[in-house]
Amino acid sequence: MLKIRNLYAYYGSVTALSGVTCHIRAGEIVALIGANGAGKTTLLNAVCGLVRREGELSFQGRSLIGVASENLVSLGIAQVPEGRQLFGPMTVAENLELGAYRRFRRHPRQEIMEDLERIYLLFPKLRERLQQQAGTLSGGEQQMLAIARALMARPKLLLLDEPSLGLAPLVVETILATLTRLREEGMTILLVEQNARAALKIADRAYVLETGRIILSGSAQDLLADRQVTRAYLGRDYKEFTEGR
Ligand SMILES: Nc1ncnc2c1ncn2[C@@H]1O[C@H](COP(=O)(O)OP(=O)(O)OP(=O)(O)O)[C@@H](O)[C@H]1O
Ligand SMILES: [Mg+2]
Repeated sequence: MLKIRNLYAYYGSVTALSGVTCHIRAGEIVALIGANGAGKTTLLNAVCGLVRREGELSFQGRSLIGVASENLVSLGIAQVPEGRQLFGPMTVAENLELGAYRRFRRHPRQEIMEDLERIYLLFPKLRERLQQQAGTLSGGEQQMLAIARALMARPKLLLLDEPSLGLAPLVVETILATLTRLREEGMTILLVEQNARAALKIADRAYVLETGRIILSGSAQDLLADRQVTRAYLGRDYKEFTEGR
């Protein structure tokens, strides 16, 4: 579905990605893990054309080079950015409507209402808080709203940047369970996470990024069992894993 070949990304004279090659098949959850500054966000931004890039990049057989970032939504790619970037002073309902904005003209109100119903099934808490300002939601609720807003665009591919950031383990579980459910409904997901353990738990495959290069890839299961990965990215959970939890 998404194919990336020999991708470079630059911030001024700094090279942030050096020849990244990876792909995502339809219906997969692919995790991208790596330490701070490895280039995970840069890779998402490169896909979305938000940073200067070189290389091959295609979505459903169509090159993304030259496609403006604001046109990605209509192709079927939605990004949930790092730090959520909601419209804080606006209500939950208004944030959701903005997610559907691109479709308003072509799609009847009825369809949007149906999408909203589907979103309330995924995130029941949002329904209770429709008139609350987004900025006053809890961290977990804000993450849910950010995902929900992206879903309002009916994407085929969802790009998520660190959805677990700053959230309590139980809330992380809820969000990951929702991603698994979305995959069951046919969504394809690229999940960027520093929380490698959580990401590998739900992913089909994963790539490990280090200073702008992919240093390892494989099935999530294999990477969970890989000593290099467990040492570098699973930290103190290593023992727990080797004991076959
Ligand atoms: N706007 C920018 N200008 C210059 N350098 C940048 C910019 N954004 C990121 N970088 C650099 O590019 C490299 C990759 O950053 P990136 O944000 O992609 O890392 P990351 O893997 O997402 O890290 P984190 O886990 O902390 O979010 C880092 O060395 C970072 O300092
Ligand atoms: Mg990042």
